[in-house]
Amino acid sequence: MIIAIDGPAGSGKSTVAKLVAKRRGFAFLDTGAMYRTLTLACLRAGVDVGRAGDVIAEARSHTAGFERSTSGDFEPTLDGENVAREIRTPEVDAAVSSVAAIPEVREILVAAQRDFAKGHDVVAEGRDIGTVVFPKAEVKVYLDADPAERARRRAIQAAGGDAATGADPGVSAEAEAEVLAALEARDERDRTREASPLAMAEDATLVDTTNLTLDETVEIVCALADMVALSGDVTREERKERADAKAAAAGRVARAAFPKERDKTPYDETLKPMRPFRNDFDDYYDHAIADYPLPTRLLYELIGWGVFCVTKLAWPWTFEDDDEFFEWLKAQDRGTVVIMNHVSMIEPVVTVTHFWRKGLRLRAIYKAEFNRFTFMHWVFTRIGCIPVSRGTSDLKALRRAQHALERGENILIYPEGTRVRHEGDEVETMGGFALIARMAKTGVTPMAVVGARKDTAKGAPALRRRHSFIKIGEAITFGALGVKGRKAQLEAMEVKAMERMWALRDELRKEHPGEE
Ligand code: DC
Repeated sequence: MIIAIDGPAGSGKSTVAKLVAKRRGFAFLDTGAMYRTLTLACLRAGVDVGRAGDVIAEARSHTAGFERSTSGDFEPTLDGENVAREIRTPEVDAAVSSVAAIPEVREILVAAQRDFAKGHDVVAEGRDIGTVVFPKAEVKVYLDADPAERARRRAIQAAGGDAATGADPGVSAEAEAEVLAALEARDERDRTREASPLAMAEDATLVDTTNLTLDETVEIVCALADMVALSGDVTREERKERADAKAAAAGRVARAAFPKERDKTPYDETLKPMRPFRNDFDDYYDHAIADYPLPTRLLYELIGWGVFCVTKLAWPWTFEDDDEFFEWLKAQDRGTVVIMNHVSMIEPVVTVTHFWRKGLRLRAIYKAEFNRFTFMHWVFTRIGCIPVSRGTSDLKALRRAQHALERGENILIYPEGTRVRHEGDEVETMGGFALIARMAKTGVTPMAVVGARKDTAKGAPALRRRHSFIKIGEAITFGALGVKGRKAQLEAMEVKAMERMWALRDELRKEHPGEE
């Protein structure tokens, strides 16, 4: 496996990559050290790093490599000589980005980097790892942090301290400002150069380390790696075990990524108001539906009435004994996570519509794959749905759902992950619903439907008029589970909520014999 970590100077790449490599027993590849080693060779030979031809000649006549130290670290070597200290001087700092900007130099070093990874599990860090060196890396992380924070870390490091452990020998504001200026200049050169500029790979996970501790960042990267490792082809027996481990890994990512969330300004106050038209998709995901611009809110009403009339005529539906539930829900200051069995495209539509009729908002979580269909993407966005990329740790989606719940909106999740077209089809339960509820400090409300499944019998009319019946259970709170500890609570919630959901479905089947 290759874990690619990119990011600007001072984002914590080296420290994080080293620790991840140690924890997982992977080799550690510090590609920046290779550019530095070559820069050192140029400085020693008196080569002007502005003269590309001379630098290329140096690159061809020296070898930038690594050796294992007695403590197991990978230390940089120049033609076999250990240069760990010599490459970390202000002179090398100042010259290295000119060296790294030369395409031929990059070609030579990238080939060496790929060689290094042959037959190894590797954590590699640099600027172009996920984009150029290992575009097929299984895990790609882009670490970033506010420039001032990065400069603070570097200044402490230069003064012999360590920001990660809090060992700060006392750095003056002027020293920090000086480091900040040099660091911003280097980032600018690295970002704007022609050859393999510093950039985030499209499929990388952005981790902003400004407010994270070193431990939290390492934990996130390890958990991302765990999730990938757990996603391969598996036998049926392994599936349950792996799904649990995956949910636990997602929990670890969320726990590490949001520990300080509650101390910050309420999320909505940091959002810019939406414009009447031409908003980004993200704006819809991040704002409350009540804050959508007027044209969109009118469209929402229109769709609501349209769906209500059409479905009541063509596919009638009934929510059973739900008055008490809605009375209770309206009195809550945060929303609930609704889970439901999924048998057709009818029940999500009528459930959202029913909540709307009750004056409440229900935001459905749906597979991001649907966004390939432009029209679906457009409509889903306008009615407040939130896409989730499955098979990855979609932190953004988790966070969006959390914020919606905190605002008093409700979230609808289909834990079976996909529509179950036939009775007995095997499904893999998505544990994400418990995690979202837990993050938003709310409960899970089980619901069930019967009757909506399309009649697949041979010769059945495509649009057969069927009646669906939907039942809502009582919300389950984490406190009521009677277990302590985050992991145990998440597991208990998943089990209990699913059990209740199936029990409701069975009650409905009894009440309406013959309906599935
Ligand atoms: O990560 P570092 O500060 O040791 O990197 C030193 C320089 O090398 C940095 O200015 C950018 C360059 N570099 C690069 O261009 N590509 C890489 N993969 C790694 C580093």
